[in-house]
Amino acid sequence: MKTPSGRTLLCMLCVFSLSLYLCMFIGSDSDYTNRHLFSIIFGTNAKSLRPLIDDNKTKIESIKKETHTIEPTCIPRNNIVFLKTRKAGGTTLQNIFCRYGDRNNLTFVLPHQGWILGYPYAFQKKFAISPPPSGYNIFCHEAVFNNDVITDMMPKNTVYITILREPLSHYESTFTYFEIGKTCGIRSYSANSLDEFFNSPSECYKKTPRNHMLLNLGATYMSFDDDRAIEMTIEHLEDKFDLVMIMEHFEESLILLKDLLCWTTDDITYFELNRRETQSVHKLSDTLKNKIRQWNKGDVALFQHFNKTFWGKVRNFGEKKMRIEIENLKIKI
Ligand SMILES: *[C@@H]1O[C@H](CO)[C@@H](O)[C@H](O)[C@H]1NC(C)=O
Ligand SMILES: *[C@@H]1O[C@H](CO)[C@@H](O)[C@H](O)[C@H]1NC(C)=O
Ligand SMILES: *[C@@H]1O[C@H](CO)[C@@H](O)[C@H](O)[C@H]1NC(C)=O
Repeated sequence: MKTPSGRTLLCMLCVFSLSLYLCMFIGSDSDYTNRHLFSIIFGTNAKSLRPLIDDNKTKIESIKKETHTIEPTCIPRNNIVFLKTRKAGGTTLQNIFCRYGDRNNLTFVLPHQGWILGYPYAFQKKFAISPPPSGYNIFCHEAVFNNDVITDMMPKNTVYITILREPLSHYESTFTYFEIGKTCGIRSYSANSLDEFFNSPSECYKKTPRNHMLLNLGATYMSFDDDRAIEMTIEHLEDKFDLVMIMEHFEESLILLKDLLCWTTDDITYFELNRRETQSVHKLSDTLKNKIRQWNKGDVALFQHFNKTFWGKVRNFGEKKMRIEIENLKIKI
């Protein structure tokens, strides 16, 4: 066996001192030392390891940060029934739902033609184009609510939403829009035709409905003189609808909608559509107002109930938070 030559010995000494040198740095956690160690032990290839480790570290940290700040407290709701009551500011909302559905490739319940799903008849499946295998997502075209049929055709986790308007102005608007005066052979101009209609009521009462909002929400004509029936209808609607918005409190309504659906402010920014000139709205005498309220007492009860629950929801949401959200909304519109 050959004894190690001087050269080999020198080499071994080199390796030894190198390991000693390396050992001195082990345990140190300084960045520089670690990098130095790596490049010495693993050669130049080690350089590519370091950024990888760094990347993973920052990636993990950024994931941690994200989940911390964007708490996944809610998932946007895509299955929606918006029962658009007529003459109650629903066109603006319909526009919001249409835009959202379009952007998110959702499936609408659509009429075979036009915009109306059989109104004024209670909704039937045959009024709509058949759904694709994935089913429907959004129901937002004009219809008379038919609970059993609609519940059956929409997904289980559907959110139900509608909007109401203060009954006096709603009736006045409906009266003009449906030309009820004309239907009843009243020739005076709009400002007086309501007066005339309520002066000689009995004849024309048979030709024109009352409580348009209740009818729109699926109540039947039979029940309007029965306070208990009206009450029960309201209770059913309370159970069914997750949110009943109020046209007169439109901004608060939009914020509650956004909160319920887990949408963004951009999702609910809107343009006012279909709004009448203010001067065409009639000035009503107190006597006439009372007659209209009496005539539509189902709608009055409906509105009172849901305006009350609406403000309860605003309180639960937080009044201060509501003010801030409305400010944010106003900046966008
Ligand atoms: C970085 O993370 C990925 C998984 O996210 C893993 O497969 C890979 O081995 C990690 N690399 C290092 C150098 O730790
Ligand atoms: C909707 O569909 C279009 C075309 O198929 C696609 O490019 C787009 O990414 C989809 N958008 C969403 C939000 O799924
Ligand atoms: C709804 O109720 C609130 C609180 O009671 C009231 O201030 C508001 O005037 C009501 N809205 C309408 C349109 O009557």
